[in-house]
Amino acid sequence: MPVRSVSSEELGDQRIFTQRVRAVTHVFDHKPLAFTHSYGCQQNVSDSEKLDGMLEQMGFGFTDSPEKADLVLYNTCAVRENAENRVFGNVGALKALKRRNPDMVIAVCGCMVQQEHIAARMKQRFPYVDLIFGTHVLHRFPEFLYSIYEKRNRIVCIPDMDGVVAEGLPVRRESRFRASVPIMYGCNNFCTFCIVPKVRGRERSRSADEIISEVKGLIDDGYKEILLLGQNVNSYGKGTDTDFPKLLKQLDELEGEFVISFMTSHPKDCSHELIDTIADSVHISHHLHLPVQSGSDRILKAMNRHYDTVKYLELVDYARSRIPDIQLTTDIIVGFPGETYDDLCMTLELMRRVKYDSAFTFIYSRREGTKAAEMDDPITDEEKGKWFRELLDIQGEIGEKAYEKYVGQTLRVLCEGRGRTDETLLTGKSRQNIIVDFPGDEDLLGKFVDIKITKALPWALVGELAERRKI
Ligand code: SAH
Ligand code: SF4
Ligand code: F3S
Repeated sequence: MPVRSVSSEELGDQRIFTQRVRAVTHVFDHKPLAFTHSYGCQQNVSDSEKLDGMLEQMGFGFTDSPEKADLVLYNTCAVRENAENRVFGNVGALKALKRRNPDMVIAVCGCMVQQEHIAARMKQRFPYVDLIFGTHVLHRFPEFLYSIYEKRNRIVCIPDMDGVVAEGLPVRRESRFRASVPIMYGCNNFCTFCIVPKVRGRERSRSADEIISEVKGLIDDGYKEILLLGQNVNSYGKGTDTDFPKLLKQLDELEGEFVISFMTSHPKDCSHELIDTIADSVHISHHLHLPVQSGSDRILKAMNRHYDTVKYLELVDYARSRIPDIQLTTDIIVGFPGETYDDLCMTLELMRRVKYDSAFTFIYSRREGTKAAEMDDPITDEEKGKWFRELLDIQGEIGEKAYEKYVGQTLRVLCEGRGRTDETLLTGKSRQNIIVDFPGDEDLLGKFVDIKITKALPWALVGELAERRKI
């Protein structure tokens, strides 16, 4: 299916709206300030960087406090109920601010409001929200904002469609060294628990030329870590003459010192070729995030994941044989409808066998409109909570020792900032995508340095400069 790209005329129209908003806000007695917040995954954060880019071009500055803002924008996530509850709570809290400052514009966008029942609820419950827009019309933000400033109307725009690809939007990046680059949008997998395909539309890939030229530009601008994004990067280029390993190989050939990482890789079409590509590369991170979801084949089938534990473990073994220092991480869901304690034990067994470096674990959350929402779910929340804690304990035990093997080794680390727990240390990430803290001067920020590892914590490594190398 051809990808529907937003035409240059449409983008040109948005640039005109951008200038018009600029003209409106220019007559304010101060520079307009925006407070924006992202509630979701890396793709959501990447969208927020584009929305911030558009705001910047519309003349906005940024503030960390909603109290000082002329515009509040929440970019929402629908993946679990607690993410949605947080948004409802935070939008509710804006009521008092809007009463004090009626000129403030409040906008809510993203995956959560792409669901009709949620958009309707939000519209009715929060009459002071000016703008609600879905995932497929992100690029029309300037048009919406101009209309609100001109007519003081309320806008709800959540077209239900397969989705588009919009190239060339401005981006205001959060980090000076790390840059996210979406390579594809949407998802066709329809895992029975998951709302993402419904709110993000069908799979569509960006052209390899666009991606390569963006990454090249970023490297030239001094970015050192490029994170390629897609709900399932292994589907990249499906139906065309390129695919994900090919794209990775082309990116790996670019000149410079940088690391390429990616997420997420669905086990059903993670290939040996992908693992070989990582093993043979110069720049690709030795980290594979391979969400298993469950260790029970019966549950994997009910989840519509299209792999079984035999195939999954074969991939893990192959990855470890080709890339011995690979960091393996995963996502696991506890309490999927119909899951029994025996199924849970199979998941625990698989975790012990794989020995993940870390695991992101979630209690199943019922999502309206998914297949799993129609399945019998007899286990109580209390019981699921107990299972969840059991799983956390097991991963805690495994994770405790996972990084010990690095003590004594020297790892090349991209220095990214001050330590989160210890301000006197610098922090960075190794080729395996592991956090490494070490003492050093600010001038190392954004540089690669060799660090001799002296201590392993469950979630990070600690070390010291092995040798000072200028790049
Ligand atoms: N596209 C990615 C996952 C995106 S969502 C992939 O397929 O790997 C990130 C994680 O959230 C999923 O891997 C899953 O573990 C979890 N998740 C998704 N829907 C969920 C739900 N309804 N309840 C609980 N966890 C869920
Ligand atoms: Fe959701 Fe499955 Fe698609 Fe991931 S692959 S986004 S879990 S439907
Ligand atoms: Fe991401 Fe949440 Fe949407 S996980 S794709 S922001 S539903």
